[in-house]
Amino acid sequence: MKSRPIISLKDLSFRFPGSREKKNALERINLDIFKGEKVGILGESGSGKTTLSLILAGLEKPTSGFLFYQGMRLHGRKAYRDYSSRIQYLFQNPAGAVNRYRRIIDLVSEPLIYRNYSKKAIKSVAFEMLQRVGIDPLRWYDYPDQLSLGQIQRVCLARAMTAGPEILICDEPFSALDVSNRGKMEEILLQLNENHGVTLVIIGHETDLLLRLCQKILVLREGKKVDLIDKTRSDYVLCEYTSRFFNKKLI
Ligand SMILES: Nc1ncnc2c1ncn2[C@@H]1O[C@H](COP(=O)(O)OP(=O)(O)OP(=O)(O)O)[C@@H](O)[C@H]1O
Ligand SMILES: [Mg+2]
Repeated sequence: MKSRPIISLKDLSFRFPGSREKKNALERINLDIFKGEKVGILGESGSGKTTLSLILAGLEKPTSGFLFYQGMRLHGRKAYRDYSSRIQYLFQNPAGAVNRYRRIIDLVSEPLIYRNYSKKAIKSVAFEMLQRVGIDPLRWYDYPDQLSLGQIQRVCLARAMTAGPEILICDEPFSALDVSNRGKMEEILLQLNENHGVTLVIIGHETDLLLRLCQKILVLREGKKVDLIDKTRSDYVLCEYTSRFFNKKLI
């Protein structure tokens, strides 16, 4: 099915600049992500999930070790800029990630301007995306401060979709959503993956959810990889930490 990974992490470590912690926030992580894969990152609070996802998105650079895209080592500002343009990132705190002075419709339309869509097409695609994520048309001309966190999370998904990413990284994308919107978000993510070949990286701490959505799950503990659950392998055995901490069996 797959040959070369789209993203590869090799011996990657990360330390926050000026950190007084004795240990690194991430320690010698290796991970391959293939095109069209659905990869989960699981771990307790503070285990390094967000830090790792920011590095995967090109928003932070490793302190040591390497990040490869399509077999090429990322190095230099231009390479990082090109890489980041292929990726959309849904932040764990979406309210802090959107420009609060822009209307919802403009936030969702913006990526289409850069993709050279016509004015008419921009409007219709943005409307369609907002409808897909279930934002009431009465809200389309509001500002982010007038929306709930769950609504902003869905606006961010609509915006990410209009950017047409190759890779979508979602940091706890369901955290502010109620059950019905959670279902909608899951369905959209799976559709993006199945119908448009978008590679998904989903960060979370809910084992059931990640086991259901992802083929492969990296388990982090205190910045270290302790397990890699590969659901495509029938002979897979959970490591002791994963089964003890999460107290789950594979579906
Ligand atoms: N800006 C920062 N400066 C210094 N240390 C940080 C910074 N951000 C995070 N850390 C530390 O790095 C470690 C990993 O944090 P990270 O946010 O990646 O965890 P997480 O797994 O995403 O947790 P959560 O599930 O609570 O979101 C933690 O010990 C945290 O305190
Ligand atoms: Mg986090």
